[in-house]
Amino acid sequence: VSVKLEDYTPYPFEIDSVSLDFSLELEATRVRTKMSVRRVRPGEFVLDGEGLTLNDISIDGSPLQVSDYKIADNKLTIADVPDTFTLETDVTINPKANTALSGLYVSAGRFCSQCEATGFRRITYWPDRPDVMSRFHVRIDADKATYPILLSNGTPGKAGDLPGGRHFAEWDDPHPKPSYLFALCAGDYDVWRDSFTTMNGDHVDLGVYVDKGQADRAEWAMESLKASMKWDEERFGRAYDLGVFNIVAVRDFNFGAMENKGLNIFNSAYVLASPDSATDADFEAIESIVGHEYFHNWTGNRITCRDWFQLCLKEGLTVFRDQEFSSDLRSRPVQRIKDVMRLRARQFAEDGGPLAHPVRPQAYGSIDNLYTATVYEKGAELIRALTVLIGDDAFNKGMQIYFDEYDGTASTIEDFYSCFEKASGKDLSQFRLWYAQAGTPEVTVVEEWDEAKSELTLTLSQKTPPTPKQDKKKPVPIPLRAALLDGKGGHVEAEGWQDGETVIVLDKAEKTVKVNLSKGSARPLLSINREFSAPVRVRRDLDKAGLLKLAAAETDPFNIWDCFQSLAKTEIFRLLDEPQSPPDDALVSAMADAVRLNESDPAFAALLTVLPDVGELFQDREPADPAGLDSARKRLRKAFAEALAGDITRILEQPSPTPFKPSAEQAGTRALRGAMIGLTGALGTPEAASQLKSHFDSASNMTESLACLRSLIPLPGKARDEAIETFYARWKDNPLVIDKWFAVQAGQGTAEDARRLSEHPDFDMSNPNRVRSVAAAFSMTNLAAFHAPDGKGHEVIADIIQRADKLNPALAARLLTSFEQWKKLEPKARASAKTVLERLQEAGLSKNAMDIVTRALD
Ligand code: ARG
Ligand code: ZN
Repeated sequence: VSVKLEDYTPYPFEIDSVSLDFSLELEATRVRTKMSVRRVRPGEFVLDGEGLTLNDISIDGSPLQVSDYKIADNKLTIADVPDTFTLETDVTINPKANTALSGLYVSAGRFCSQCEATGFRRITYWPDRPDVMSRFHVRIDADKATYPILLSNGTPGKAGDLPGGRHFAEWDDPHPKPSYLFALCAGDYDVWRDSFTTMNGDHVDLGVYVDKGQADRAEWAMESLKASMKWDEERFGRAYDLGVFNIVAVRDFNFGAMENKGLNIFNSAYVLASPDSATDADFEAIESIVGHEYFHNWTGNRITCRDWFQLCLKEGLTVFRDQEFSSDLRSRPVQRIKDVMRLRARQFAEDGGPLAHPVRPQAYGSIDNLYTATVYEKGAELIRALTVLIGDDAFNKGMQIYFDEYDGTASTIEDFYSCFEKASGKDLSQFRLWYAQAGTPEVTVVEEWDEAKSELTLTLSQKTPPTPKQDKKKPVPIPLRAALLDGKGGHVEAEGWQDGETVIVLDKAEKTVKVNLSKGSARPLLSINREFSAPVRVRRDLDKAGLLKLAAAETDPFNIWDCFQSLAKTEIFRLLDEPQSPPDDALVSAMADAVRLNESDPAFAALLTVLPDVGELFQDREPADPAGLDSARKRLRKAFAEALAGDITRILEQPSPTPFKPSAEQAGTRALRGAMIGLTGALGTPEAASQLKSHFDSASNMTESLACLRSLIPLPGKARDEAIETFYARWKDNPLVIDKWFAVQAGQGTAEDARRLSEHPDFDMSNPNRVRSVAAAFSMTNLAAFHAPDGKGHEVIADIIQRADKLNPALAARLLTSFEQWKKLEPKARASAKTVLERLQEAGLSKNAMDIVTRALD
């Protein structure tokens, strides 16, 4: 069964307000719902409901007879309803038995909720669709000693004690919202409190609720929240709109975090951080996710989505906003490179396989499976490409039109784009094709230089490969930032270009651009897709010498990094095809020089040490041999490390910055140190192992300690085993750090290692972070072992998936996506993947998991 975009019809009723009354008990929570309903168009009165025990139902105070309504296929239909009425329902749910972590569930003895996309129907009967918005009033009662803190959306109202050791609290949210933004948390927490005064002078109480004894680990999340609130005011003129903003951290959570109105619920991995236990990447992720969820308050909550096909309307835009936030707080080029690495690793892979789908799909089987890299990351790239296409001023103006005109509505991509058409005066209908077509466009650039005329002719063409159910693609407008480089660190002027820069919009299958330079000019070098202005693959006929020359002439840090990526990639492919041939010395020393040259920007220099990973190399080879790619990559990396040997020692001899601060500046220094630790491991010598071990023993921060552990793991010997043990003993009571301990081992071990880890006493099938720390770390970052031709890697993961699926279908479905590249594998691994997928299909899985398996096999 699939849901189709074209089948959208508005809901026939409006529900102006709703009162929810929760009586919390672990195994039998009572939910009484009272909603005022008003008919606005013809149609049936249907509510969603899943796994609910209905105790009572009445209209305007009169109980309904069983014959008055029908419950089937998770829907409750009442045949005859008045035009205006009050519906009351009383249901019982079992939060303790909720292992899917959707709806109301229990984590570490406390109640919490997750309603996006369709969890609210597991709490009460309701039209569980984002275009039905209502004013929520919530009353919660619970045992006071066990659940002293009772939270929901909006601002607190009455509270007090009840007989029998119970107490109650009321919450009111004045902003109408869809049910997916509802939240409830109850339990005993420690709170890190602070406050914020908005640009309008309004006072906001802020709280971050965490496990007892962990309050000080919430400080960074709080700092990030205040920074987010300020940034949205300054950058987009958006202020917060309630007197309270709370964040609750929970250990058992299916994804990163959730933007429930006024009550964000977070995976504790993205809240808790202390200088000794969190890496710089953790601090950075917390800042970015806290920002992301906060920014949803305007892009997602105040303006929500009409239906789930419009998911990218809130997600793509909000990812764009959080990327900009991080760029403004940290380094813009470094942020851009990291965002593109992620896009290429996850989204390009998705776009090139059987699970490819458009940013705004036309149909889906299971909505939970649409929270993808394509919707999020490519969705964000399209907003960025839009800013390049229409310019920052028109973009900013369009955003203000969007906020003004669509506030309080459930909107569509068309609504959103109409604002930018107004702001720019441009017809953006062709741009919207980007939302309808899957696949990564390939842009080919051919240059011709006419010495006599001082004219450079660029022939640009585009082609988007076929994707499932989309054979033919139309050209999309591709905004390519370009510059003409003089090879001396500057630009060359040309007619119609400014400071040697322009934006070329490739909006046809092929386009010729003439660039006229002043007479007698030397041939400039072309820099294109600067800052990765469009999410495409660029193909140019540049050989190694040409790319090295370009890298030296580049003025865009993104492209400098990207030139070296291309060079490394080509070299790794050559090493794979010529197993006897050593890595190219000249290339390796150019790579090492680039690192040295940029040492004053250590975060950037660190990125220059990262070779394209197997997942990315994989995409350019068919059939792909992950083990071969991995060993070719390691040969290049070893040579690279040897070329930097002196620098490694010099950099690591300097002390790590103290006292520890999670600042971008210190993080940059540690990133380069971490890179040097990684390269030490790549040397692979016994001396390297002992250096790593002594650095590990003395490391004063998690970034370096974990980098050492990661580097030691592939090196045989006593040092490795000792490090694994010491690390475990030191951190065994900190589950977030133990997740890392599992992940570094699964990320570099064999299938047997993954199996052993999945049988470790600390492995916990009911905790998504722990399951991912083994299964996703193995299947998504350790492709050589996962896709080993003997099929053992596939089997371990299939076993975990099958067990996980019984408890948590969303988790199992996500893990299954690691099989998405199976058709590109060399024949042995390919056959094994097929067998395993077919076995899973026959075994019978949840709807979510089946949706992925079926599409993968299709
Ligand atoms: N809206 C949340 C966020 O982007 C994620 C919710 C994920 N929901 C899901 N069913 N996968 O921050
Ligand atoms: Zn989001």
